[in-house]
Amino acid sequence: MNPTPTVQEDTPARTALPQNTLHAAIVDPQMDSMRLLSETAMKFPDALSFSSGAPYDGTHDIANLSVHIDRYVKHLRDQGVPEQRITRMLFQYGPVNGFIQGEVAKMLQHDEDIDVPAEAIMITHGFQEATLVALRGLFASPDDVLLSVSPAYVGIRGAARMLDIPVKGIVEGPNGLEPEAVAAAARAVRAEGKRPVALYLVPDFSNPSGTVVPLEARQRLLDVAAEEGLKILEDNPYGLFARDGEKMPTLKSLDTRGDVLYLGSFAKSAFPGARLGYLVADQIVESEDGGRRTLAQELSKAKAMFSVGSSSLSQAAIGGILVENDYDLRSATRELAAVYQERLAVTLDALAAHFPPERYAEHQVRWNVPRGGFFLTVEVGFAADLAAMERSARDFGVSWAPMSMFYIDGGGDRELRLGFSNLAPDAIREGIARLVRFIESEARS
Ligand SMILES: Cc1ncc(COP(=O)(O)O)c(C=O)c1O
Repeated sequence: MNPTPTVQEDTPARTALPQNTLHAAIVDPQMDSMRLLSETAMKFPDALSFSSGAPYDGTHDIANLSVHIDRYVKHLRDQGVPEQRITRMLFQYGPVNGFIQGEVAKMLQHDEDIDVPAEAIMITHGFQEATLVALRGLFASPDDVLLSVSPAYVGIRGAARMLDIPVKGIVEGPNGLEPEAVAAAARAVRAEGKRPVALYLVPDFSNPSGTVVPLEARQRLLDVAAEEGLKILEDNPYGLFARDGEKMPTLKSLDTRGDVLYLGSFAKSAFPGARLGYLVADQIVESEDGGRRTLAQELSKAKAMFSVGSSSLSQAAIGGILVENDYDLRSATRELAAVYQERLAVTLDALAAHFPPERYAEHQVRWNVPRGGFFLTVEVGFAADLAAMERSARDFGVSWAPMSMFYIDGGGDRELRLGFSNLAPDAIREGIARLVRFIESEARS
């Protein structure tokens, strides 16, 4: 496979730029893994795709975009905001940290029991920018190290790499990141003369593994953070979709010492095309002249230079959704949560029907059983790399993601990730039947 995008043959030689003159992060093949994965999957458009984590898009309706924006504008008018100011909010450059922080604060209070003032929130260009801003602010020296759950969402390793921040992976267990493993990793980093600064994790239905950190471990993680002087970067795009009665408190809602920065995304709770997320950073920063600002306010200097500000149109649309739903996204997403729960159950049932767990010794295939989220992982008896994925898509009509893409320091060579969020139940059943044929064929070869 050719990883380099093709260019016109007649491109003048003088415009050619040796790749190795670019920043190492641009050249690093790991940074390109997601593009390669989606390109490989796209080469086989008839293949059923378990390779992405795209949200279910069956209810999207273009007409709703203007409804959401109109709803937000009405909300401003109802609050007595002058017409000229509303026009300026939508059309002009706006405040760097955004203008819907108040609405997001109400949603966080309602849905997550996170009680922070609007000044502690920065509206960002998705989770991704929230991460870049947080990392840029917290990591001050080349010796500062980010600890991350491994396997991890590619966005965290990529953001750290783009900022030249070294990452130490901590391999999770069946219940996600183990607090004592975090403490050990922090000590190991310190023993090398470096400083562990922050810890990244997704406590609820992690991507890629679907794990959930139990309550006791959450409390212990907060204690470890305090003992080791770590900030926690809590990423939570999937927690909203927990089954009724199973929702866990976020680390941020349990954080009494100000050790957690919460990274939010509207990609799954509203729609990813808005490219909207937020950073909750309520820590107080004291300047030498005695000034006191929230960390979110202080970090607006970074956001200003990354993106100037977040899209006014997206803020108005998401603001409209929040207002329409009385700041209760949990209730607003119950039907969506049921869709994801059904897809998870169908995937698990189909796997168990084809590979009875009691006959593991024969088929050598096993998987984890998450209680929510968009993903699960399957262990197989052969190298589940991108070349295998290509054979799977080309010859068997089903694509998936190699787990090795998500491990920080290597691992997951015989594991694959199944993302079932955007496949209807019948497509899931057919996709698993195809996957079974592929796995059986690999086992024979
Ligand atoms: C763990 C995790 N964090 C964050 C996101 C969303 O990021 P963004 O808001 O940048 O789309 C995703 C989406 O795939 C994810 O899986």
